[in-house]
Amino acid sequence: MISAKAQHLQAIAALPADGPFGLPGSFYTDPAYFAHEAATVLRRAWHCLGRVDEVAEPGDFFTAQLLNEPLLVVRQADGTIAVLANVCRHRAMPLAEGHGHADRFVCSYHAWAYGLDGQLLRAARMKNTGFDAANCKLHRHPVQIWKGFIYTCLDPDAAPFSFPGLDHLLDPYEPENFRLAHVAEEIWDTNWKCLVENFMEGYHLSVVHPETLHSYTPTGLARKLIAGDGFTSYAAKYPKDIPSRGMGASGLTEDERLRSTLFAVFPTQVASQAASLLVSLSLFPLNAGQVRVKWTLSVFGADLDDATIAARIALWEEVNAEDRDKLERLQIALASDHALSGPLAGDHFEGTIRDFHLWLAAQDRRPTAPDWSTDDGAYPHTDVQHQGHLSRADPR
Ligand code: FES
Ligand SMILES: [Fe+2]
Repeated sequence: MISAKAQHLQAIAALPADGPFGLPGSFYTDPAYFAHEAATVLRRAWHCLGRVDEVAEPGDFFTAQLLNEPLLVVRQADGTIAVLANVCRHRAMPLAEGHGHADRFVCSYHAWAYGLDGQLLRAARMKNTGFDAANCKLHRHPVQIWKGFIYTCLDPDAAPFSFPGLDHLLDPYEPENFRLAHVAEEIWDTNWKCLVENFMEGYHLSVVHPETLHSYTPTGLARKLIAGDGFTSYAAKYPKDIPSRGMGASGLTEDERLRSTLFAVFPTQVASQAASLLVSLSLFPLNAGQVRVKWTLSVFGADLDDATIAARIALWEEVNAEDRDKLERLQIALASDHALSGPLAGDHFEGTIRDFHLWLAAQDRRPTAPDWSTDDGAYPHTDVQHQGHLSRADPR
């Protein structure tokens, strides 16, 4: 079954650029295919976990769950950010939940204590000739900081990523200088790829968002921007007569100011960069039909007053709810035998979806290290439970 899908994906990727088709429904609903993705493309890729200013001070932390791995993101005493395995070295209890501040992490089960760098500091009453505290450090996952976002990868040998084309596109906005105004998490009943595709195509803007987005970013003004190995982008342009939405960085051109630059860092980050507003969604796939969505909203300097920021948060909540409603209904129909591969609209509208599928197909051609997936879907980590709370507002 997987090999048939693998061939189908390559066939989709081989279609001519002016005749692209989407993936059939089973790519989005089949548990065995999700198990295959979890063991291959998702396990090998870099994933955005959040913003650096979610952990502004040493001791600040938040947790995440990426596939089967509980993660603990912490600002260490030396000011750098670590992504630790949130798994006690004694008998595997998670060490922290949600977000907060700690001088050390004390396990809630038998009180082993770890420093911010994951070193074991104390193991009460532990008498065991085989015990060596130096060998009981928390595992450290790779970390990369890019544009003020924190990324990690479950593959310890992953090469760092770089996107020169995307740097060129985003650097004028100074995304690393945006400050966090809002964080929220929710679980959507949709396949994670549907959310990537939905966020990255402008074809639906005026249809799904007539009240919220159409006046600023109508479908007709969507324009494809640069794509490369691991990313794609498009401009949701504003009509010329629209009032300014903030000046943003001083180096921005008028054209850059009058659009939202939507970009995806494959496979699980989608974001919208505007002059004064940066919204990013990190997707944590749970199973074929569910994804945990963590979204952050950041603002540029003092461009927006508190009332405007509150209005922008409310607007994005509404926009996300509109997309979520569509995607959750879509997910049901994708299970149909009649959810066939359909034609994609032109480059400016759905070319980004083709970019995503080309990238997925290229990932699928990479040789796999141990692939634990099986055609019957018997993969041990396909249904990942969410840990901790589901939403939190304005952590600062
Ligand atoms: S599991 Fe953490 S101290 Fe026992
Ligand atoms: Fe949308």
